[in-house]
Amino acid sequence: MATTPLIEAENLAVKYPEGDLALFDVTFSIDSTTFMAIIGPNGSGKTTLLKAMLGLLKPTDGFIRVLGFDAKREYKMIRKMVRYVPQRDQIKATVPMKVKDIVLMGRLLKKPPLRVASGKDVQIAKDALRRVDLENLWNHPFPELSGGQRQRVLVARALATEGQIMMLDEPLSGADHDSQVLIVEALQEYYNENQVNIIMVTHDLNPIHTLVKDVLMLNRTVMGIGHPCAVMDLELLRQVYGPSAKIVELAGHKYCITGDSGFDHHDH
Ligand SMILES: Nc1ncnc2c1ncn2[C@@H]1O[C@H](COP(=O)(O)OP(=O)(O)O)[C@@H](O)[C@H]1O
Ligand SMILES: [Mg+2]
Repeated sequence: MATTPLIEAENLAVKYPEGDLALFDVTFSIDSTTFMAIIGPNGSGKTTLLKAMLGLLKPTDGFIRVLGFDAKREYKMIRKMVRYVPQRDQIKATVPMKVKDIVLMGRLLKKPPLRVASGKDVQIAKDALRRVDLENLWNHPFPELSGGQRQRVLVARALATEGQIMMLDEPLSGADHDSQVLIVEALQEYYNENQVNIIMVTHDLNPIHTLVKDVLMLNRTVMGIGHPCAVMDLELLRQVYGPSAKIVELAGHKYCITGDSGFDHHDH
């Protein structure tokens, strides 16, 4: 039986008004249900692709559909289904809110006005915070948290929100190692327990390559797609990241070393 793909793009091109083509000739299809990673160097169009899925950027050519809905025309339906965690630099860390307000916001925004949190909302929000090991910071001011804690709160907000697709743009960037591990484990646990799709943009596949089902490698167009092992190919990595890219094997797992992502790479 044919099922509707999670994401289907055909000849998709996206151009910023003030720029060159950020994406061109993007054609791929990914089946539901999946935990998928979108990888590629800086500027390869990863964020642009997520925004195209959400209808925040319109295709200059081709189309992209999310569970059958056209992102250009039917973006309202898509946004109802999606819980989106934007890239860190797009969120102000100074918002004078408490952790609980941030986590509850995802649920409240999907309700009609006069948005009041019910007992169930609070319970779900607390459970989401527990998954990232921050339930004790429920009443804590958000701006006082470390970068890694803030990322964990934003992931908790996505976990607490309704919608069958989770889109996270570089949720590990700017997070300390322990926070990275907590985020990855929380997403994995949530994915295993719930029939949700997770689409995670990352410039470093290493922390998640043993968990994800599909990988899309971008460099303004599709460079590779498939099982993580299929894109962990030396030829392909060097083509995308340059000649110094390497693959090493440790304890039965392959790891990529690229200019963008090394073993001890942190964003600060
Ligand atoms: N608002 C914008 N205006 C013009 N060009 C942009 C804008 N945002 C991104 N770009 C360009 O589009 C390309 C892809 O960007 P982006 O999708 O953010 O890449 P990534 O998320 O993979 O780092 C880059 O060359 C970037 O400079
Ligand atoms: Mg980006």
